[in-house]
Amino acid sequence: MAAMNLVALHGYPLDRRMWDPLAERAAAGKLGPIASVFAPDLRGRGRSPHPAAATHAMSLLADDVARDLEAALPAGAPFLLAGLSMGGYVCFELIKRHGARFRGRLKGLALFDTKASADDDAGRAGRKAAIEAIRKDGIEAALTAMLPKLLARGSKGTPAEDLVRRMVLATPPETAMADLAGIAVRDEGFEVLSAWDRPLLVAVGEEDAIAPPADSEAMTAVAARAPWVRLLTVPRAGHMAPLEQPDEAGAGLVSLAEAALQA
Ligand code: MLT
Repeated sequence: MAAMNLVALHGYPLDRRMWDPLAERAAAGKLGPIASVFAPDLRGRGRSPHPAAATHAMSLLADDVARDLEAALPAGAPFLLAGLSMGGYVCFELIKRHGARFRGRLKGLALFDTKASADDDAGRAGRKAAIEAIRKDGIEAALTAMLPKLLARGSKGTPAEDLVRRMVLATPPETAMADLAGIAVRDEGFEVLSAWDRPLLVAVGEEDAIAPPADSEAMTAVAARAPWVRLLTVPRAGHMAPLEQPDEAGAGLVSLAEAALQA
């Protein structure tokens, strides 16, 4: 079977480790055609070579990923692009800005627990308040605000919750504030999705309180040019479906990879 790479982008205020369960499955040969996972830390955290900026515009993060994936993947290797929440917003920008360059290699798109709408005025005001809370109280303010919303009821007290806590607390406050400033001014992604002409997986935890299933339905509804579209609602998952339920998320990715290889 032909090998496929997965480029996977994490959400806010998290890091590459949220994709570990899927990377481990791929390394063990348990993710069908997906043989390897490239999950970079986005700018300003973990192993990223890029320092934090004042504002992490989604376009800036997309440019970083486009450059880094060229270096990380074998020349010409085909890949699927996946993003969770903020990672999904970065996917839209990557396709807009670099889609033509990756045309022959980017074979499919997976959107997890994300939305294509931009922030409205109330949303932007909420981001501003969140930035001020982090400036005042440090990254613990992000943990207090986000943790109750990130996971399904059944994920409380599990290793997934422990990892989420560690990822949030490992995020430098200036990085979290720059992410929020960039998220607040992001463009909508519906235009990218209406033009998308390759296989598309849209997956969402059924208990996602941040990007609820209705947001995923809205994204699949506009993807009229995609030759294969799957909307996957993941039971017993909140906003972190690939981490909370990696078997179900992995099965969704395998179906996307198989569709991409047949397209
Ligand atoms: C994320 O998980 O990346 C954030 O919840 C995104 C957002 O708040 O819009």
